[in-house]
Amino acid sequence: MSREIRITPSILNADFGNLNAEIAKIADVSDLIHLDVMDNIFVPNFTFDFESARAIIQSSPIGVDAHLMVANADEVAPQYAEAGCSSVTVHAEAVTNIAATLRSIRKQGSRAGLAVKPNTAIDSYAEFTDLVDMFLIMTVEPGFGGQKFMADMMEKVRKTRSIIGDRPIWLQVDGGISLETIEIAVAAGADTFVAGSAVFKAQDPAAMVVSLRELAISVAN
Ligand code: DX5
Ligand code: ZN
Repeated sequence: MSREIRITPSILNADFGNLNAEIAKIADVSDLIHLDVMDNIFVPNFTFDFESARAIIQSSPIGVDAHLMVANADEVAPQYAEAGCSSVTVHAEAVTNIAATLRSIRKQGSRAGLAVKPNTAIDSYAEFTDLVDMFLIMTVEPGFGGQKFMADMMEKVRKTRSIIGDRPIWLQVDGGISLETIEIAVAAGADTFVAGSAVFKAQDPAAMVVSLRELAISVAN
C-alpha cells in the first residue's frame, strides 16, 4: 500500500488573536492550512465570516483548505475558491445543487471537496466522483475541536477508498486525529489528515506535524 500522505493542520484550536504567528509555526512542514468556516446555523458554533476568512486566505504563506460548515454553501463556495483557496470543501448535507457547486469551485481554480457528517452514508454520493478532487469523511460531529475520534467511521473510509479506486482523489479525515488514531485511519485508506488540537496543543506544533506524517507514511508504505 503506497500512498502519498498529506497533513493539513486545523487552526480551529490555535490562538485566534495571533493567527499569523500560529500559521507560521507549522507552515514549513504542512501541506495546507485547514480553515474551518462555521456559521452557527449548519453547526452550533461560529468562526469566521467571509471577509475575515479572506484575510487569512490572502495572508497565508501556504495554501488553504477551506472546510465550509455553513448552510449557504452553494452561494459561498465559489467565493472561497475565487478568494484563492487551494481547496474548498462543502458538506453534502448543506448543498442544494451538489454538481453545480462542485463545478463552480473548480471553475474558480480550486480543488473541489465533498464532506459527509458521521450519520451520512457515502454511497449516494459516489455518482459525483468525477466532479470531486477530495472526499472528506468526518470522524467527529462537525462543530468543535478536541472531540473523540470515531473509530466506527473507518468502515466508511474503506468504502470511500473503494469508490475512489485508482482515481487521483484525496481522501481526508477530520476530527480527533492524533498519534493514537492516525494509524487506523491510514490503514482504512485515508491519505489526507486534519489535526487541530493534537497539533496546536502540542508543545512543538511543527514537530507534531512531522511525527504525524512519519507515522502515517510508515503505515502507508
Ligand atoms: C470540527 C472541525 C475540525 C477540527 C478538528 O468540526 O472540522 O477540523 O478543527 O479538531 P481536532 O483535531 O481537535 O478534532
Ligand atoms: Zn474541519
